[in-house]
Amino acid sequence: MTKKILVLPGDGIGPEIVEQAVRVIEYLRDDAGLDISISQALVGGAAYDTTGHPLPQATLDQARDADAILLGAVGGPQYEALERGLRPERALLGLRSELHLFSNLRPALMYPALTDASSLKPEVVSGLDIMIVRELTGGIYFGSPRGIRTLDNGQREGFNTLVYNEAEIERIARSAFDIAMKRNRRLCSVDKANVLEVSELWREVVCRVANEYPDVELSHMYVDNAAMQLVREPKQFDVMVTGNMFGDILSDAAAMLTGSIGMLPSASLDTQGKGMYEPIHGSAPDIAGQGIANPLATILSVAMLLRYTLDEAGFADRIEQSVEAVLDDGLRTADISQDSESIGTAAMGDAVLEKLHQSAN
Ligand code: IPM
Ligand code: MG
Repeated sequence: MTKKILVLPGDGIGPEIVEQAVRVIEYLRDDAGLDISISQALVGGAAYDTTGHPLPQATLDQARDADAILLGAVGGPQYEALERGLRPERALLGLRSELHLFSNLRPALMYPALTDASSLKPEVVSGLDIMIVRELTGGIYFGSPRGIRTLDNGQREGFNTLVYNEAEIERIARSAFDIAMKRNRRLCSVDKANVLEVSELWREVVCRVANEYPDVELSHMYVDNAAMQLVREPKQFDVMVTGNMFGDILSDAAAMLTGSIGMLPSASLDTQGKGMYEPIHGSAPDIAGQGIANPLATILSVAMLLRYTLDEAGFADRIEQSVEAVLDDGLRTADISQDSESIGTAAMGDAVLEKLHQSAN
């Protein structure tokens, strides 16, 4: 059966970087014999401009129908004044929750050729390989009640609710343990159990699930300490699992350890392996349209798509090896270049495709 891939370029640098990733998908379809179809739809500010809504029903329907979604980025300064429900970010949150993409995998991988691009000392980050598993459809992002209300004394008060039930914790814990089993079998669960009841329950449930995975070494860490340990001695971590907001924050920090947020892909999966794949960086409106953005995180997102949804690990390996080979050749976009020498978005796409072609022989 033909697998359906829906491409959502979005805003800012989204269309430019997605264009290069689509070339990789087309290569897989046309030259490598993968049975896939590609379609495109509007999302984020681009969708708002055309339809008046950041996540039009037609896009949501196509997303439900697809096996996998490749998303560029959403958002831009021109949309910041819109009411909350119409902002581009709502599209992202809507897709995550409507498609039940609860398990967000955010790898932070140090490429040997880029060790010098990190702001940390090379010995601290060389060989770094962390997987952050972030719960993506619950927690304070989605908890209710939420809002801004006016108190009797006329003061306004903003409020959100941090809530996790046992089933939600169990399912993300299982997802993280399964991943740990395929890696170095160490899992660190990050919470704030010294202060929050939600974290107390989180820890209890994670410990219960751990009984099913006797081969995985489980540890627990408070989120403030985890933030510190990530910049102090990041190589102590293999897999980390945490809630929605802690994961949002820690994954940005982990990404930067590797030198550039422009390098890192992500996967957001449901229980069936359907997924949405996107670079973890944003829409970078400041450099949009200049052809200088780094397409590698999006191309590496295609590799994750092959690995996690299409079950095509061989092709995923080939894409990852092609990216590594391009970096070893010294090719750099501006964000990862240590000197003034850099190439543009399309040239980086060309280079990866050339390596892909070579690896077929
Ligand atoms: C991310 C982003 C999103 C989030 C925003 C854009 C809603 O920061 O994917 O990490 O907070 O989840
Ligand atoms: Mg974030």
